[in-house]
Amino acid sequence: MSLKELLKDRLDEEELKLLRRSFEIIGDIVIIEIPDEILHHARDIVDAILSRHKHVRTVLRKIGEVNGVYRVARYEPVYGEKTETVVKEHGCRFLVDPTKAYYSVKLSGERERIARLVGEGERILVMFAGVGPYPIVIAKLARPEKVIGIELNPHAAEYFRKNVRLNKVEDVVEVFEGDVEEVVPKLPGEFDRVVMPAPYSAESFIHLLKGKVRRGGFVHYYTFDSQNEEERLHEKVMKRFEDEGLSVEVLKVRRCGNFAPYVNRYVVDLRVL
Ligand SMILES: C[S@@+](CC[C@H](N)C(=O)[O-])C[C@H]1O[C@@H](n2cnc3c(N)ncnc32)[C@H](O)[C@@H]1O
Repeated sequence: MSLKELLKDRLDEEELKLLRRSFEIIGDIVIIEIPDEILHHARDIVDAILSRHKHVRTVLRKIGEVNGVYRVARYEPVYGEKTETVVKEHGCRFLVDPTKAYYSVKLSGERERIARLVGEGERILVMFAGVGPYPIVIAKLARPEKVIGIELNPHAAEYFRKNVRLNKVEDVVEVFEGDVEEVVPKLPGEFDRVVMPAPYSAESFIHLLKGKVRRGGFVHYYTFDSQNEEERLHEKVMKRFEDEGLSVEVLKVRRCGNFAPYVNRYVVDLRVL
């Protein structure tokens, strides 16, 4: 039963129209948008959520969009106080706090997809690693030799280190706290695969790949683009890489989320020639 149906006796028709259709569940935390006009119904909304999701301990109201370099939105609790929780994903466990570091359940399918592509003994670089879901899912589901993850937000990096220990992948996953612009150039050797879930302007980080991916190696390049440009994306991405002196072939373009009305997140799988 939808939230609207659960609340149809508590909110009037106009108020029901303002109610968002969906909410996000992260471990035992629910994140929901509640417009100011129906904020006086917060308790009814919480009760409706709790009636369906008995494990929920905290309900956070999202105020404004995910923004800033760290990609963290602002939240205010409307039920409970605890903002740290444990999320299960593909047999891994992640300690997260959405008020301090980015984590989205929506990319979990993507993480599994990438992990299934990894060959035995690969050396992998994950830029913008957040609390570590890409490196850790890859380490657990595949058999890489090494996965290096880089993250700038100190809170996210701290959770990343904790999650590496929690999932017992210390031998495989190495955490670097810092800016990819500074860390990547100092990393020795070439990688078999680079994952780039960039938070914004992915094209501005392509130059970092020079000399870092072996010939025949793979890049998973995440970018945002307008829906109308979808057909040209393949060509546009090839051109961006060429402009940076990197010759690549596009293996796949896949839509993997919605960012704003008519703006989607895409992943482009590339092979370096
Ligand atoms: C869209 S989130 C992706 C996080 C993670 N890969 C995931 O799937 O949950 C992007 C992350 O990049 C980090 N970040 C932003 N700019 C960065 C930079 N210049 N160097 C390293 N990390 C950066 C942010 O703090 C944020 O955690």
